[in-house]
Amino acid sequence: MASLPNSYAALRSIGAYVPEKILSNSDLEKMVDTTDEWIYKRTGIKERRIADKNESTSDMGAKAAAIAIERSGIKKEEIDLVICATVTPDYFNMPSTACIISKKLDIINVQAFDISAACSGFVYLLSIAKAFIESGMKKNILLIGAEKFSSIVDYTDRSTCILFGDGAGAAVVSATNDKSEAIIDVHASADGTYADFLVTPAPGSVNPANQKMLDKKLNFVQMKGNETFKLAVKTLTKDVIDILKRNNIKSEDIKHFVPHQANYRIIKAVGDALGMSKEQIVLTVQKYGNTSAASIPMAINDIYESGRLKSGDVMLLDTFGGGLTWASALVPFSPKKG
Ligand SMILES: CC(C)(COP(=O)(O)OP(=O)(O)OC[C@H]1O[C@@H](n2cnc3c(N)ncnc32)[C@H](O)[C@@H]1OP(=O)(O)O)[C@@H](O)C(=O)NCCC(=O)NCCS
Repeated sequence: MASLPNSYAALRSIGAYVPEKILSNSDLEKMVDTTDEWIYKRTGIKERRIADKNESTSDMGAKAAAIAIERSGIKKEEIDLVICATVTPDYFNMPSTACIISKKLDIINVQAFDISAACSGFVYLLSIAKAFIESGMKKNILLIGAEKFSSIVDYTDRSTCILFGDGAGAAVVSATNDKSEAIIDVHASADGTYADFLVTPAPGSVNPANQKMLDKKLNFVQMKGNETFKLAVKTLTKDVIDILKRNNIKSEDIKHFVPHQANYRIIKAVGDALGMSKEQIVLTVQKYGNTSAASIPMAINDIYESGRLKSGDVMLLDTFGGGLTWASALVPFSPKKG
């Protein structure tokens, strides 16, 4: 028999940071051979945000995190773990972006590290936070998903540059004794068989930085779009059906379905398979594009700031990304009472 957790993990708050600069489909029409109509029809994206050239992933992550901490009602001195999901860290590969964010927020002498799970990063962070809290090792965890994806996009490649944007989202997850506040379940998985579907080939130990690698543009993201699309729909549909079944929860019990914001057609296919109504599905892809690890917390922040996310609302999160990785979670929004 599994032992009882020391305490439960509750999602206390959410925050996000969105860069000011907008890159619209009509801007892209002037940069590559594409049209607003093609992009919107195939992806649902109208525009995306691009960070300033002096703005780093940690700058955006720290801004989102400061908002999440403030909304959590927890003092920053009480945070005992800082974890950041990103594939566009400030530096390849040290120090971690989590360390830099911690310094920017003056949260020092606290464990801090990054994870690399591409677009699944934030839901992977939830699984880590849940495990740390249930084991009794940590009490208040700061989670950040932040990406300056524009730093690894080739703006002459029409098959990728239309998809991605920059931004950051953050959350505080804390220990609670009240089971009704707890993250219900997180399932995260991966299959490296498909590693070449989404890859930035350099710099890394396979292709260390050199002029040849830059000439071949190996520092930019490469994607097998069509193959990724098909696998995403198949994998996500199975994953969300499984997590609902395992927890004996029906689609209609979900207040907000928060899918990874990569492509409207993928979101619609999975939403239809679950029988989700339009009102249940959270959509930000039209205005932010795919912001990778920041996508899910930015979308949750959107419903929070528009007043749609209320205490006790159960969210179904689902995501997939490079690796390939995928993950889903059942998460009630549990702001601190009193
Ligand atoms: C990228 C994506 C929108 C492309 O749509 P698609 O329907 O699969 O299109 P294809 O890649 O098969 O390309 C169809 C045609 O459009 C062309 N095309 C590609 N990008 C284009 C663009 N921006 N504008 C106009 N035409 C474009 C292709 O060259 C191809 O032309 P061809 O038939 O003459 O060869 C889609 O595959 C997708 O969203 N995949 C998932 C990507 C994803 O989510 N990645 C992130 C994972 S976290």
